[in-house]
Amino acid sequence: MVDTSDEWIKTRTGIHERRILKGEGKGTSDMIVPAVNNLLNNSQVRPEEIDLVIVATITPDRMLPATAMHVVKRCRLINAFGFDINAACSGFLYGLETARRFVESGSYKNVIIIGADKMSSIIDYQDRNTCIIFGDGAGAALLQPSTNGLGIQDAILRADSSGVELLYQHAGGSAYPPNEETVANREHFVYQDGKQVFKAAVQGMSGVCQDILERNGLTGDDIDWLVPHQANIRIIDATRERMGLPREKTMINIHKYGNTTAGTLPLCLWGYKDQLKPGDRLLLTAFGGGFTYGAIILTWGC
Ligand code: UT7
Repeated sequence: MVDTSDEWIKTRTGIHERRILKGEGKGTSDMIVPAVNNLLNNSQVRPEEIDLVIVATITPDRMLPATAMHVVKRCRLINAFGFDINAACSGFLYGLETARRFVESGSYKNVIIIGADKMSSIIDYQDRNTCIIFGDGAGAALLQPSTNGLGIQDAILRADSSGVELLYQHAGGSAYPPNEETVANREHFVYQDGKQVFKAAVQGMSGVCQDILERNGLTGDDIDWLVPHQANIRIIDATRERMGLPREKTMINIHKYGNTTAGTLPLCLWGYKDQLKPGDRLLLTAFGGGFTYGAIILTWGC
């Protein structure tokens, strides 16, 4: 499709495989529904007990209604309300902090937070700056009130609007609604200035991780697992090295899935869950379009 090679992709990004959702009319919710059903089975919570579902995505099934509504309907979450969050690759992080606040309010007991994107629907397979990186994926987590002191300890969410023109999808929104010209000009695809995004991602994630560690009187040695956004193995390595963390303490699945945008963090947690013990201290961090970024410290609950 483009002038590249397997060797270049593997060495420059760490990506060996990507998943693509195929099938006419299949959207992001088609990946979410099995993830949520699996989550409900594993946690033994009934669909009617879910109070709220938050979907972090930049690739909703449709512009209207929210993808959360498709999830409510298809997973029969009959007592839940829901909404979508658009924070690109930081969507799961932003959503987790939002979900935490709903639970902490005492009004909601079972909140599902989902990170999911069908990136193949907005990727230009003639653009080697993006098409070699992005894949499709979804993950879901359940948040409940903690009675044992475990759970989310602290969060820092940030935005740096210098990224507005460095990573974006030009058309399709209210400023440039879809028309023949926008389609012909390939303006519905994601554009990024890869080099600038790369630099900003390393600075943003390592900086906010240092800040959250300091604020909590911690150092890298106190972290059992770094859970970084999976955009490029070189970004992951540069971020963890700045914190003095070895690869063995870093969740990495970019080789299997590529960059699934809002999906990367929950896919990491799911992939590593058998290695996690209650009380393990995790440092989650992400960086994405906007720029949006942040970090969350949590102790694993179950
Ligand atoms: O999740 C947040 C969103 N995205 C990201 O975080 C992505 C951040 N950026 C990146 O991961 C990297 O910048 C890319 C993977 C997009 C590009 O890698 P890079 O190491 O920054 O490549 P570059 O743009 O500096 O280009 C180096 C060379 C150039 O050739 P010359 O000028 O040295 O001859 C490019 O033309 O590699 C060439 N190149 C490619 N070659 C083969 C750029 N892309 C490709 C490619 N295949 N796909």
